[in-house]
Amino acid sequence: MSEDTKIIGWNAPSNIALIKYWGKRDNQLPENGSLSLTLNKSTTSTFLTYKKKQTLENTISIEYYFHGERQLAFESKTERLLNSLKSQMPFLPDYDLIFHSSNTFPHSAGIASSASSMCALALCLVTMEENISANKLKTEDFFRRASIISRLGSGSASRSIYGGFVTWGKIPSLENSSDEYATPYPVDPGSRLNTIRDIILIVSSNEKNVSSSKGHALMNYHPYRDGRKIQANDNMLKIIEAIRKDDYKTLADTAENEALALHALLMTSEPDGLLLKPGTLSIIEEVRKYRRSTGTDLFFTIDAGPNVHLIYFEDQREEVLSFVQNNLVRFCEDGQWIDDCLGKGPERISNESFD
Ligand code: PMV
Repeated sequence: MSEDTKIIGWNAPSNIALIKYWGKRDNQLPENGSLSLTLNKSTTSTFLTYKKKQTLENTISIEYYFHGERQLAFESKTERLLNSLKSQMPFLPDYDLIFHSSNTFPHSAGIASSASSMCALALCLVTMEENISANKLKTEDFFRRASIISRLGSGSASRSIYGGFVTWGKIPSLENSSDEYATPYPVDPGSRLNTIRDIILIVSSNEKNVSSSKGHALMNYHPYRDGRKIQANDNMLKIIEAIRKDDYKTLADTAENEALALHALLMTSEPDGLLLKPGTLSIIEEVRKYRRSTGTDLFFTIDAGPNVHLIYFEDQREEVLSFVQNNLVRFCEDGQWIDDCLGKGPERISNESFD
């Protein structure tokens, strides 16, 4: 690599929302507040190499490689994003930009890859900005700026900037909350909530027939649009209170209500988006039956797809793993599931790990 070529690497996690962001306005601003858990193992690593162009012109020059292969669809998406960022990051057209990224989880596994990939990309861009301007931001300002840039790539990516529980969207009772960026939602260090885990049950890995951007757009004319905002705000207040009081029953009831509300909205959109599969419903029934009969603190949540996230606590891991093996794996495509847990947020990766 030549002297004037620089490299930056970040590893960023995906996240799973308990209060769902669904519907947006203006420049990727959310119609309602959301709250998520940042994952630990489900991550994207991205390296950005940049070199000043010989001749300056105002166009974005980029190449995007995914697991070593040029990825033209993602390249065009990233190019569009970088073009839209030119007013905020005017240095972008002055450089040749090459991205190399890889995921730890399979494609279409029900894990939001746009959250981890856009988060890693934004962190690389803000680090590049810092390097070339030689203006070192305070840590808090650095991550806030990265959250804003991530949001412009994918709304949920704004939350992946922080570890643990994270909110995004203006919530009147939460000081510092904003539609522009996410904010970490601290829980008591001794709380059992810090030991939360997520088993992702892959019911189907087929490509979804409604992308999340199409889904958000369907909310613009949805007959339940206003009702959804009221519901999401009520659920946010309930879940915040449940987290504050370590009230696992309200946490479970509210998160499940949100997952089903998201799919109810999808199913009643025009055109409708029916993304749940028979296996998804069977898992829901089994989870509820198991919770009723054992009193275990576990619950499900689902993103805009058929796969189920089973949320539970470390101290009940053994019994939950047997339940998954005995009752749920049979509904998973090729028996596939992913074992994840609450994560600490993105990490800078050393240049040496780039070969
Ligand atoms: O960030 P997007 O545009 O992929 O939208 C994410 C939407 C949901 O995953 C369904 C909910 C959420 O808050 O993550």
